[in-house]
Amino acid sequence: MHCITGFPKSFLLSFVLCLLIGTAIAQETSFGRISQSDSMKIEALLKQMTVDEKSGQLSMFASDWGVTGPTQNSAYKKFIRDGKAGAILNANTVDSVKSLQRVAVEESRLKIPLLFGFDVIHGYRTVFPIPLGQAASWDLDAIEKAEQVAAMEASAEGINWTFAPMVDIARDPRWGRVSEGAGEDTWLGCQIAKARVRGFQGKGFADGRHILACAKHFAAYGAPVAGRDYNVVDISPLSLYEYYLPTYEACVNAGVATVMTSFNEINGIPSTSNHWLLTDILRRDWGFTGFVVTDYTAINELLSHGVAADLKSAAELALNAGVDMDMMGGAFLEHIPGLLKDNKVSLSAIDESVRRILRLKIQLGLFDDPYRYCNKQREQTEIMTKESLDFARKLVSESCVLLKNNNHTLPVPSTVKTLAVIGPLANAREEMQGNWSAAGEAKKCVTLLDGIRNKCGGSVRVVYRKGCNINDNELSGIDSAVQLARQADYVILALGESGEMTGEAASKSNLDLPGVQNQLAEAVIKAGKPAAVVLFNGRPLTISGLNEIAPAILEAWFGGTQAGNGIADVLFGDVNPSGKITMSFPRNTGQIPVFYNSKNTGRPVRPDEPDEKYVSRYLDCPNTPLYPFGYGLSYTNFRYSGITTVVSGNTITVTSDVTNTGDRDGEEIVQLYIQDKVGSITRPLKELKGFKKLLIRKGKTIKVSFTLTSRDLSFYHPDLKKYWEPGEFNAFVGGNSEEVISASFKL
Ligand code: NOJ
Repeated sequence: MHCITGFPKSFLLSFVLCLLIGTAIAQETSFGRISQSDSMKIEALLKQMTVDEKSGQLSMFASDWGVTGPTQNSAYKKFIRDGKAGAILNANTVDSVKSLQRVAVEESRLKIPLLFGFDVIHGYRTVFPIPLGQAASWDLDAIEKAEQVAAMEASAEGINWTFAPMVDIARDPRWGRVSEGAGEDTWLGCQIAKARVRGFQGKGFADGRHILACAKHFAAYGAPVAGRDYNVVDISPLSLYEYYLPTYEACVNAGVATVMTSFNEINGIPSTSNHWLLTDILRRDWGFTGFVVTDYTAINELLSHGVAADLKSAAELALNAGVDMDMMGGAFLEHIPGLLKDNKVSLSAIDESVRRILRLKIQLGLFDDPYRYCNKQREQTEIMTKESLDFARKLVSESCVLLKNNNHTLPVPSTVKTLAVIGPLANAREEMQGNWSAAGEAKKCVTLLDGIRNKCGGSVRVVYRKGCNINDNELSGIDSAVQLARQADYVILALGESGEMTGEAASKSNLDLPGVQNQLAEAVIKAGKPAAVVLFNGRPLTISGLNEIAPAILEAWFGGTQAGNGIADVLFGDVNPSGKITMSFPRNTGQIPVFYNSKNTGRPVRPDEPDEKYVSRYLDCPNTPLYPFGYGLSYTNFRYSGITTVVSGNTITVTSDVTNTGDRDGEEIVQLYIQDKVGSITRPLKELKGFKKLLIRKGKTIKVSFTLTSRDLSFYHPDLKKYWEPGEFNAFVGGNSEEVISASFKL
């Protein structure tokens, strides 16, 4: 029987029900489905929540466990009890998390469980190489696995939300946070961003071993003027779309659950109050369905930016722009109720933000079991397992980049009897984890000296001198280091920065080796023994001088728990290095920013006329970096030959032979670059469009093919639309962005 409107009765009934219970329909989110009954649960809660409780749900406070900025509020336990906190930052371990969750679900009025967020940036207890180091492996499976292990360990200790991946593209190594990202290239950055989201979130949260990821820092935080952290970003819309936004979009496409606003302004509007960014681009254009959290006190900082006269207006700007959760600022908690009363914000906007947060709590399973991530047994059995440590060691060796290797200085020959290990980073256990090492314990890290001793056993006499400190002017240790070098028949020099010299608030105007390390290196190398430098750092350094004198240089970043073992595997030839840098190493700081995908200009330097006057160049230094993007050596050599291009319809296949011409097997990261020769707007000289990491046996040749479609050739235009333009293109294949072979094609 039909009712008078013509709708079946059952439909009408569910329609009426829907009206009664609000928008309680099943919903697809990018990280899974919310059932109708879960939606109903959320709507029922919303009905019961006071405005204060809603404001609390949109607020995160730090536990007294640790903070990463100024603490605004230490009353977090009372907030939890009063239903005025939606998430807690920096609480970890089962006991601690459980005790706070208990307050939320047993003592608060509505018993809404908390989220527990932590900066799990490159491992949790098992610390992996810093992200810039991991990126140098170009091993997407390994990067994904590192995040899986990190999520497994973090979730075993109560954490269900990480503030990673950091996907800020960065071309300026003065900025200390380059260590947390994937480097300078957008295309590679997107592949790595997706792998990291997949690793943290898995296929969902059903197994309790995956956690919410957070794409940060939205947006363009990696482009501060002069490389100074937190500084303004002044960028053309075209560059923003072409280079800086795609990595965040890649995270959204990979289903990232949360996004963090950045501290910076972009062209006059701070990200945290930027409606265009947080609502128009993120939600409308990209379809993001998770929630947006601010960076630490970023709402409060709208006052210093000078766009809000007081905290209340700052909260209004942020909420109306599209922020859902206030990290640490207390602005939402204090001011949303008043803003609602004054009609400055709408109840529907507040409810929508609460909904987004509750949805994720449901998807994490916290409403079924708030202690789901607090499992004592897992805490004991899933942390720093042998498998995780073995994997960490492998990732360290994969992240190492051989920058120089004259006359096969490396690997260390088996004939060496006495090996001198010298330098301030050789036995620097505290430094091995680098910055943002989550719950990693420095005392569990393997130093380079440990790793070398482990490797040599009793067969080589390993002697050690520090030589100098990382960063002071004390020269008194250099002489005895030189004496030691003279007695040895091989020297390993461990130089670099301290872990704290990169990361947040760690910008530098001078990227030379700090302190007197260059003097130490010069004196020790002059002793005339075969010498290899191992570098520890979180950013490209300016090492032109060292590059002149050192026979071999291995970039080892900060490798984490297994640093020393993984590096020793490379130094002694058990692993043939295959890493390639993902950020250009400048010759000096005056060259910065120097990056591979630059443009030709109207007056390019002609290679056969390097001293020509009225062209785009420096008088005192070449335009090229010391080591280009994609560069890294192996203990064997690879030859590229026979490049061909075949066009079929709208598909182009580029093929090249790669031959291992040396005497050992090796892995090579074969890179494909494209140049759009004539466009309606200027295009970069090269753009990475593909890579393959291949094991090539000694003496063997492998044919490597890449297939692209016209879509891969598209780029943003002044109307901010992305499309491709038919015409002539160059394809380049090679082992780095400079040494390539090329062929052209028309499409
Ligand atoms: C500030 C940092 O910018 C951000 O990356 C981090 O996640 C938060 N503090 C929380 O620690």
